[in-house]
Amino acid sequence: MGSGDDGQVTALPASPASTATAASLGELLPDGLVVVSGDGAVRFVNQEACRILDCEVEDLLGGTVTEVLPLTDRDGRDWWEEPTPWNAPSTRTRRREKLLVGPDGRDVLVTARYIRSPTGHLERVLVGLRDAEARLRAERDQATVLSTVAHELRAPLTSVTGFTSSLLRRWDRFTDEQKRLMIETIESDASRLTRLITELLDISRLDSDSLTLRLAPVDLHDVLATHVSRHELSRTAGQVVLSLGPLAQERGLPEVWADADRLQQVFFNLIENALRHGEAPVTVTLDLDGPTGDWVLVLVDDEGGGIAEEDRDKVFGRFWRGSDGSTTGLGLYVVRGLVEAHGGTVAVESSPAGGARFAVRLPGGVPDAVALP
Ligand SMILES: Nc1ncnc2c1ncn2[C@@H]1O[C@H](COP(=O)(O)OP(=O)(O)O)[C@@H](O)[C@H]1O
Ligand SMILES: [Mg+2]
Repeated sequence: MGSGDDGQVTALPASPASTATAASLGELLPDGLVVVSGDGAVRFVNQEACRILDCEVEDLLGGTVTEVLPLTDRDGRDWWEEPTPWNAPSTRTRRREKLLVGPDGRDVLVTARYIRSPTGHLERVLVGLRDAEARLRAERDQATVLSTVAHELRAPLTSVTGFTSSLLRRWDRFTDEQKRLMIETIESDASRLTRLITELLDISRLDSDSLTLRLAPVDLHDVLATHVSRHELSRTAGQVVLSLGPLAQERGLPEVWADADRLQQVFFNLIENALRHGEAPVTVTLDLDGPTGDWVLVLVDDEGGGIAEEDRDKVFGRFWRGSDGSTTGLGLYVVRGLVEAHGGTVAVESSPAGGARFAVRLPGGVPDAVALP
């Protein structure tokens, strides 16, 4: 013990109080950490290391690291052997990150840092561990998303370019009826592209935490009434109904501190899904919720086939969609992201009316400083 004398930051100083501090600092690290003393014994293991290695602290603590933490490369060579920290040249201070096979055949990304005294004597080895599975999975996910995006963009573009070039080359040979049909297809595919791109931009903002919300007091009843009246003017008249739940009738609805445009987008998506994937009539109910009634609850119920229990988590994923190939499968991913950005939650259940029920919960009320006149 006692490598504090060389002025280096050490993981386990001698005094018990600072040992506790070092240990709690070790727990703050996002990566797994195993601290080995100069004699090769494991002195500290953080929780993340245990999680990555799927073991208990006691399995490692006090043991000889080469025995309790076997690490081999892809060719089966022992990582501790080439060369060992103990016989490496004293100028060597670290080992680069390497993908290794840990105990139980797990993939682990391992780095090491050698802490030496001023005379070059090895005092500690800090072994950093990262979950390779998680990283490989993230890389695979990203590749899947890219290929899906490319495919989704290409499909509508094919019809746009195909029909425009046919129309330009053989304009006189088509009847008015045929031309109209082609132009309608172009219009619908072009608007699908626009929508897809808007959703992709929202997703990238949500995923990178760069979405800015223009927060202001919002009356949710107004937001929802706009949607309902929009349907009144179209062929979906009478298919979307707005109602107030019992608590809201009794106590009135508080305003929510939110971005009105983003909430419009959320409910537009949910109502459109209910009409497209479910079945009218669609009932939108506003009520109070939570133990003290200070949350606002919005239920969107339809009378369609509902969503099977095993699919309820998946519907909020990227590109997940049912059998209808003409949609993007991004809507609910964006809905969840926007609701969560407002500090709320969204869940899907079965509607007592028979179809799907989407329940959005948002914290009610506006911050005190804003509520003051
Ligand atoms: N109200 C609903 N009733 C039945 N299925 C639904 C409902 N809302 C969404 N879904 C299912 O969830 C999928 C994902 O929805 P969403 O993310 O909005 O994508 P999209 O509408 O572009 O397909 C839909 O394709 C559909 O299969
Ligand atoms: Mg949708």
